[in-house]
This record gives sequence, C-alpha cells and structure tokens, in this order.
Amino acid sequence: MKKLLLALPLLALTSTATLADPYADRTAIMKSFGEAMKVLVPTVKGEAAYDAAAVAAALGKIGEGAAKIDVAALFPAGSNTGESIASPKIWENMADFTARMDKFKAAAAAAATANPADVEAFKATFGPLAGNCGECHENYRIKKG
Ligand code: HEC
Repeated sequence: MKKLLLALPLLALTSTATLADPYADRTAIMKSFGEAMKVLVPTVKGEAAYDAAAVAAALGKIGEGAAKIDVAALFPAGSNTGESIASPKIWENMADFTARMDKFKAAAAAAATANPADVEAFKATFGPLAGNCGECHENYRIKKG
C-alpha cells in the first residue's frame, strides 16, 4: 500500500509534459561523456599528441556532467521505454546501480581537478575513471541488435 501511495504522485509528475524528460536529460549527459572520450581515448592510446589543455577540458566536461547526475531524478522507474537502452536490471538492483554511479561521480570529480601534466599522469587518472563507464554499461545497458 505504501508503495502505491508513493507511485501515484510520481505518475502524476511523469504525465506532465512541461517537465524535463529524464531519458533525454541522461542521454544528453552520456553523450557529452562520449564527446569527451573522443579526445581522451586517442590520447591514452598514443594516437594523439599529449595536449594538456584539451585533456583538462575533456576531464572537466565529464566532471561537470557527472555532478549533474541524480539517479532518482534521471532514472525514475519506468523510464526505460522508447529509444532507451537502459536495462530493467537498474530498477531490480537500484542500490548497486546507485553505488556504481556514486563511485563514478567521485572518480569524475577527482579527475576534473587533476590537471595531468603528461601522458603518464593522465593514464593514472584515466584508468580508474573510464573503468566505471564500461563496467556500468556491461551490467546496466542493453545491447540493441
Ligand atoms: C552507473 C552507470 C553508468 C556509468 C558510470 C556511465 N554510464 Fe553511460 N549509460 C548508462 C546507461 C544506463 C545508459 C543508457 C541510458 C538510456 O538509454 O536510457 C548509458 C548510455 C550511454 C551512452 C549512449 C547515449 C545515447 O546516445 O543513447 C553513452 C555514449 C555513454 N553512456 C557514455 C558513457 C561514458 C563515456 C561514461 C564514463 C565516462 C559513462 N557513460 C558512464 C549508465 C552509465
């Protein structure tokens, strides 16, 4: 009964068209991470010359996006519809999903202020940060064929 009472106001909220769309909001943030990766991945692979300013900017972008992620607001139950590739497992394991997001947010906040001076320092920052992306996607994103 308690659950039902909680769910009703939520339903009323999600049917209000003027409110932000959590799928669109979280996707915009994830896409900004993808953009930052276009700078960071070639750098870590040694395919791009080390550009400390570009790296700091890309890490800053991830830190900024991560700080905006509020799991309760951006991943409300039932928001894995339409184009969403969010796995239903998110809502079955919300505590684990939230813990992973918190760990990522902490790594992103640290990386955003790291200002690595060279590629070795960058690698030490990038590894622990980027591991979070893949681990979460592996568990909580469905692959669309
Ligand atoms: C704790 C979980 C979690 C972490 C950490 C995470 N993501 Fe995601 N990401 C998701 C989920 C869930 C989706 C699917 C959202 C949806 O479609 O509703 C997603 C979607 C995406 C997408 C697809 C966006 C689109 O166009 O549909 C990209 C790109 C992406 N993430 C990049 C990243 C990168 C890069 C990082 C790390 C810097 C990262 N994500 C960290 C859970 C996570």
